[in-house]
Amino acid sequence: MVATPIVAGNWKMNKTPTEACSFIQESVNLLLDIDRVKVIFLPPFTGLFDMHVEHPFSLGAQNCHWEDQGAFTGEISVGMLKDCGVSYVIVGHSERRHVFSETNDWINRKVKAIIAADLIPILCIGETFEQRKSGQTNQVLEEQLQDGLEMINSLEKLVVAYEPVWAIGTGITASVEQVSGALSLVRDILSIQFSDSNIDNSPIIYGGSVTPTNAEELISVPGVDGFLVGGASLNIESFTSIIKIVDKIILNK
Ligand code: PGA
Repeated sequence: MVATPIVAGNWKMNKTPTEACSFIQESVNLLLDIDRVKVIFLPPFTGLFDMHVEHPFSLGAQNCHWEDQGAFTGEISVGMLKDCGVSYVIVGHSERRHVFSETNDWINRKVKAIIAADLIPILCIGETFEQRKSGQTNQVLEEQLQDGLEMINSLEKLVVAYEPVWAIGTGITASVEQVSGALSLVRDILSIQFSDSNIDNSPIIYGGSVTPTNAEELISVPGVDGFLVGGASLNIESFTSIIKIVDKIILNK
């Protein structure tokens, strides 16, 4: 593994600012020995203000708008996030794509805005169950990557999260073969798209029902540089166990 491993906790629409603050403080205290894993907390927007974390911990946001400011009721700009100390922003999460109908074009605008602000996008890609069943997985991943990263010149600031839609929040995890197949496809697509970049330095992480029970097997899959964790990141014990498992396993990768 070349990229520093990442464990990111996507809390979705869970936890008040007070709960977020005490969760983060408690986790940091339980993870004092961890310094080989980047841990990213992604609370709702309201939990980002006035939150301070230090290496190896970072703050991330779950979404953003691509414009700097203006008449976009309910939206948050990248500059506002940066002012809260955010370093990462999730883009194209399957819930944004499928529940809020976000298109690859919107996702691309967001990626560009995030990179322009010197923050790091966590670009989520993944196929639905129907797409996998009908043999469209490769095409979907290729389209999401190519369209989502259009006009991006460098991979230097990018995390890709492969999250098969059918594995998110379902308790069904992709198999070792499915994860390693998808990740090597992602690397092939990126190396064609960014011919002069060093793909090995760009973290590619897996998400979809990661728990302390399956984390060891999944992080051992060649090419997996970490996890985007939803449900299991809401509980201090399970989230910190996943981080400790990744920290232990990466030594041997
Ligand atoms: P999950 O969510 O771990 O609950 O499947 C992952 C995600 O939505 O990023």
